[in-house]
Amino acid sequence: MCGIVGYLGNPEKTIGVLLNGLKSLEYRGYDSSGICIVSDEERNIFKSEGKLENLRLKIEGQNLTAPTGIGHTRWATHGKPTENNAHPHSSGPVSIVHNGIIENYKELKDALSKKGHKFYSDTDTEVLAHLVDEYYHDGVLLEEATVKGFADVEGSYAVAILSENEPDKIVALRKFSPLVIAENEEEKFIASDVPAILPYSKNIIFLEDGDIAVITPDALKIIDSEGKEIKREKKLINWDPVMIEKAGFRHYMLKEIHEQPRAILDTIRGRFSEADYTMEFQELLKLNLKKISKVLILGCGTSYHASLIGKYLIESIAGISTEVDLSSEFRYRDNVIDKNTVVILISQSGETADTSEALIAAKKQGAVTIGLTNVEMSKIAREADFTVYTKAGPEIGVASTKAFTTQIITIYMLAVFMSISIKRIDKVQSKELIKSLISLPKLMQVALELDKSILNLAKEFHTYRNFIYLGRGINYPVALEGSLKLKEISYIHAEGYAAGEMKHGPIALIDENMPVVLIAPKHGNYFKKIMGNFQEIKARGGRIIVITSDETFKNQLGGDDRIVLIPECSELLSPLVTVIPLQFLAYHIANLLGTDIDQPRNLAKVVTVE
Ligand code: M6R
Repeated sequence: MCGIVGYLGNPEKTIGVLLNGLKSLEYRGYDSSGICIVSDEERNIFKSEGKLENLRLKIEGQNLTAPTGIGHTRWATHGKPTENNAHPHSSGPVSIVHNGIIENYKELKDALSKKGHKFYSDTDTEVLAHLVDEYYHDGVLLEEATVKGFADVEGSYAVAILSENEPDKIVALRKFSPLVIAENEEEKFIASDVPAILPYSKNIIFLEDGDIAVITPDALKIIDSEGKEIKREKKLINWDPVMIEKAGFRHYMLKEIHEQPRAILDTIRGRFSEADYTMEFQELLKLNLKKISKVLILGCGTSYHASLIGKYLIESIAGISTEVDLSSEFRYRDNVIDKNTVVILISQSGETADTSEALIAAKKQGAVTIGLTNVEMSKIAREADFTVYTKAGPEIGVASTKAFTTQIITIYMLAVFMSISIKRIDKVQSKELIKSLISLPKLMQVALELDKSILNLAKEFHTYRNFIYLGRGINYPVALEGSLKLKEISYIHAEGYAAGEMKHGPIALIDENMPVVLIAPKHGNYFKKIMGNFQEIKARGGRIIVITSDETFKNQLGGDDRIVLIPECSELLSPLVTVIPLQFLAYHIANLLGTDIDQPRNLAKVVTVE
């Protein structure tokens, strides 16, 4: 939710490394930020409300040097996003940055207040600084005080801690929140996510729950709460630092929309055999699919929409009964799953709390779990029985785009793999399914050429305050996704509906002030039905944008209606093409309205709170 960085090395570089690291983590939270640096002489803390740029302006020109520093970019949970509540928080010589939520902070705060601690902020984090300080006496090392202080803490956290008494040290620890560390010849780094470290080292250590990293100029030491040393392997991360730059695009979101054909290629590469058209899922070799009676797919937000599409794909291709639920709903109801259920957990970040908690609940009930995520070594990747990766590369824009399409293609491949494994389809059928998969990046490339024409459409439509998105069958979840994209980055109210549901209520909303985006690729049964919906809307004076592969639709349009022609594509893969104009529409409308597209208000890229 929040971003953490830490650096120990060249005093001249500390400020730059911290600010650049925070910049690359800004997508995790962006309502306030702060840094703390320490040297033998002094500790300096700077904080700012709002975007990181405000902090940069505050620090600029101060010529500050110190070998050690920590920094934080915040997404507020406890306390408003003010400068006073921004991290780092301090007590005595101790300063701390924190990602997560401390559930028992009120009890801890009361107990500490009775011991004379004075609090200045509304945050749960400040309590942690006081707790460590409480145990930090003469002769006690920072890591020892940290272990004692955190013994009573309940909740989730990734933290980095400094002390002005030990200026050559950072202590970092985690529980239920990600934290990575790395080093090169001269420097040591900590971050809550890989992009902050990637420019300096590709060999990353992923800390595990309960690990305490003690970082000094000589060593990256990891210990447990008893002080016993733990060895963790370094993992080579092959993401190119260039991937986390904007590459000439105005926003990450636009860059990521355009990256989709490449992301799809990377995701399918190596997963099927062109020789005999079989799917190769090394990750799932030990999974006995013949025993599976049901699949359940769970996710949140865009990943939930990909899950809904997954139901169509698995039922249609593999013929296995498939249910879908929101991770946050699944956990709190009496659900019927057992060891013959496969639960697929879809999450771009692999860290979403609702989904990772749902994973734990599903495992407890004996289900076989498959994590489908974009981030290696993420929580879901580590905890699921099997993990299948999408290869979208880092997704920085808060509004998910390439993660969505790579999730769909991955479930498609899973469905083909399942179907072949249980011998539901033969070689000829699997060849057909795999062939349409291979042609997809090209079709998406054609759809990407719509960028400019959708900008013109956005110019016409950006002043409306409400939109309806309609789709049928496998494109119903695309209607949900299109409306989510529009609302989250343009703040325009948008509803997604199954087109057949229109007549059961939403049709009452239709008038000339309610544009309707109709997703109507030309496919068998659905197409005829959606033509019917088109007529119903026209009869009520609605204004329509139709996304279709049927040119003859033009003849039906009224003067105020608009058509977006997309390339023809197999029905099961059509969401990967139909969603592209919707991503562009949301993007261009938001851009015309001047919103903060990559970091929309109130949102964060990774939601590690329930
Ligand atoms: O990392 P995840 O896929 O688990 O994230 C799930 C949602 O938080 C995410 O898809 C969110 O809805 C996006 N902002 C949508 O664009």
